[in-house]
Amino acid sequence: MSDAITIFDTTLRDGEQSPGCSMSTEEKLQVAQALVELGVDVIEAGFPISSPGDFDAVQRIARQFGEQATICGLARCRKEDIDRAWEALQDAQRVRIHVFLATSPIHREFKLKMAEQEIIRRTVEMVGYTAQRMRERSDIARPNIEFSPEDAARTEPDFLCQVVEEAIRAGATTINIPDTVGYATPSHFFNVISHLRKHVPNIGDCVISTHCHNDLGLAVANSLAGVEAGARQVECTINGLGERAGNAALEEIVMALRTRQDYYGVSTRIQTPRLCHASRLVSKVTGMTVQRNKAIVGQNAFAHEAGIHQHGMLQSRATYEIMRPEDVGFVGENLVLGKHSGRHAFRDRMTRLGYPLEEETFERVYQDCIALADKKKSIYDADIVAIIESRSHHAPETWTLSSFHVFGGTGTIPTATIELGMQNGEEATTLRDAATGDGPIDAVFRALERLTGISAALTQYEVKSVSGGQDAQGEVLVEIECQGRVYHGQGLSTDIIEASTRAYLQALNKARTGQGGRPVAPEKGV
Ligand code: KIV
Ligand code: ZN
Repeated sequence: MSDAITIFDTTLRDGEQSPGCSMSTEEKLQVAQALVELGVDVIEAGFPISSPGDFDAVQRIARQFGEQATICGLARCRKEDIDRAWEALQDAQRVRIHVFLATSPIHREFKLKMAEQEIIRRTVEMVGYTAQRMRERSDIARPNIEFSPEDAARTEPDFLCQVVEEAIRAGATTINIPDTVGYATPSHFFNVISHLRKHVPNIGDCVISTHCHNDLGLAVANSLAGVEAGARQVECTINGLGERAGNAALEEIVMALRTRQDYYGVSTRIQTPRLCHASRLVSKVTGMTVQRNKAIVGQNAFAHEAGIHQHGMLQSRATYEIMRPEDVGFVGENLVLGKHSGRHAFRDRMTRLGYPLEEETFERVYQDCIALADKKKSIYDADIVAIIESRSHHAPETWTLSSFHVFGGTGTIPTATIELGMQNGEEATTLRDAATGDGPIDAVFRALERLTGISAALTQYEVKSVSGGQDAQGEVLVEIECQGRVYHGQGLSTDIIEASTRAYLQALNKARTGQGGRPVAPEKGV
């Protein structure tokens, strides 16, 4: 059996289904780019029939990234779904359609109202139809089709075998086994996969895949049990995003397989030093914070506080460390540069952190780092990465912050006075106004709304420190709703009021053009 594990990422489809985690098309393209850099084999880009926005995102991802990764779209066992998926995906050089139909007794009786034989008939018909559509492209001889018996983990084993056998006969090349409701335990899931391998005569003609949800906190353990039983594709998401408690976390699966190569004997193509970058990006665009003690990508994942651990680490890192922070691209507290470090040292550091920047971006980041060094004694890796990331994917801005002044404290009315530069075509003007609020940050937000003429509802506000120390930079993330759309903004400064001002202004700039936003409650037509 092959020792290569296919990593199938469904952050943009199942991950995006998590409440409050939907992304705009631009954000999905950024995430797709990060997944390609990570070396993900298959990107499930969306569910094209579910909404025009999803269709558009899948089509753009297929066109832009379809040579670097296999791009996949989801479809129910219905001709309209399959046609729509094919329409969105057909321009991808490497393409897969993923069709699914529930098989468990509870789904058959209450959701589908279909008998067992009907399920088998529909599966065969629709997998066959998918193959027929995909063969319309002259270069596709063996269509890449994935079939999922939804809620497989709660399906009777013998019926599951029958459905799987027929799906393979009809042309499915990957059989995905979803634990849709996160009900399985590791030995149970191991048995499900083993049973299929033993009792489905043509199972060798397909790749078996796992798709585990995390309702009992077992998604990663179950997926790994699936690999032990012979699955060779794992479906997962960055940060474990997904319906309810989420899916198996990609970074945990990949690092478990890599760290315990001795045990599993398999490998993936994932460029692990890109893991933290992908995690931060997904957290930023979805507004879903990563818990500090999250395995692999949490801020504390490599922190050793206990004296006995620190002592051991000083003797040999292997005493308490099973992975090196650099293996996952973790940027922590390394003291790096001060204001006397030259361009050469900065460039070298950025390249080693995985950010080889073009000249123009490098110069802007360098100037920001020098300005930061005036305010802060030491600059850490985490500071540099935060600056680089806040500088990338910058949309053109109508308003820029020139200055702000806040007045607050007990027994006074918090007041903010703000001056903005405004670019309107060739014309540049200066705007100045003031507002009061419940606190200084509320006053700032109100002043910005008066200045821009945009009124928005703040739906999320989060502030976190980028590194340690009293002079650490604060990163503020905001989410606003404006005219039925949601926008995110990010601001960075050693002063959290300034970081808040920048974050809110960035979100308002996006709201002005409508770019980078997504509908409040995306209309999913299923
Ligand atoms: O959890 C699930 O069953 C799914 C299927 C569509 C594969 O997401
Ligand atoms: Zn799922």
